[in-house]
Amino acid sequence: MARTALVTGGSRGIGAAISQALKDQGCNVAATYAGNDAAAAQFTEETGIKTYKWNVGSYEESTAGIAQVEADLGPIDIVVANAGITRDAPFHKMTPEQWQQVIDTNLTGVFNTVHPIWPGMRERKFGRVIVISSINGQKGQFAQVNYAATKAGDLGIVKSLAQEGARAGITANAICPGYIATEMVMAVPEKVRESIIGQIPAGRLGEPEEIARCVAFLASDDSGFINGSTISANGAQFFV
Ligand code: CAA
Repeated sequence: MARTALVTGGSRGIGAAISQALKDQGCNVAATYAGNDAAAAQFTEETGIKTYKWNVGSYEESTAGIAQVEADLGPIDIVVANAGITRDAPFHKMTPEQWQQVIDTNLTGVFNTVHPIWPGMRERKFGRVIVISSINGQKGQFAQVNYAATKAGDLGIVKSLAQEGARAGITANAICPGYIATEMVMAVPEKVRESIIGQIPAGRLGEPEEIARCVAFLASDDSGFINGSTISANGAQFFV
């Protein structure tokens, strides 16, 4: 039976590769996006994957959006909390707004995405929760106090959910991508980016598909005993 998957931030970057990989694995996939209508329309045209627009930082929008996805595609078996933003600034320059925007999207957004889906997973005795964290949640990063806080928080979320869901056939795991060739990393000033690549033993940025393949594995029925784990995919840049 085909599984239904929801991927937040699923029409661009790592999320788009995840949506495609889950579709290739036979899932019915819904991808959410926050604002870029043109990119979402193009993504749907190219992949046939349906997109839904809502702000993951809003519980009301998330609940309504998830209800619509479930009405269209059926109960959600797999949820990938991938939507994330950066508002980088050295701490002495970071504004409360930059702090709050990142907390709302990257951390509260995970709560808002998983919480409405969780009761159904418990009832059906199956679920796969995959949260896209970051290498910078593991090691911290200059100019990312806000982002690193959320990505470290993601690891606490999955370790706790894993314990709560295990008896109900639900797994919760995190992936910590290193620096991947996406718009988010390309937005880093070129000189800084070059220096970051110099710190990656693989000598290159990762590809979105390399993260998507980790997600596809964790989302599969075969991965049921992997629960509460963190998979690092960073070209040997950092070891926990
Ligand atoms: N390490 C050490 N020093 C750094 C640094 C770093 N990673 N990045 C910047 N600096 C230095 C600059 O060289 C500069 O030093 P000088 O004053 O001696 O020249 C100083 O810090 C910052 O200068 P400014 O006060 O002018 O900084 P700014 O207000 O203009 O902010 C910045 C610039 C936002 C920090 C910019 O440099 C930047 O975006 N840095 C990259 C931050 C980063 O790595 N973000 C990761 C994004 S990718 C991602 O998040 C995906 C993921 O999960 C991996």
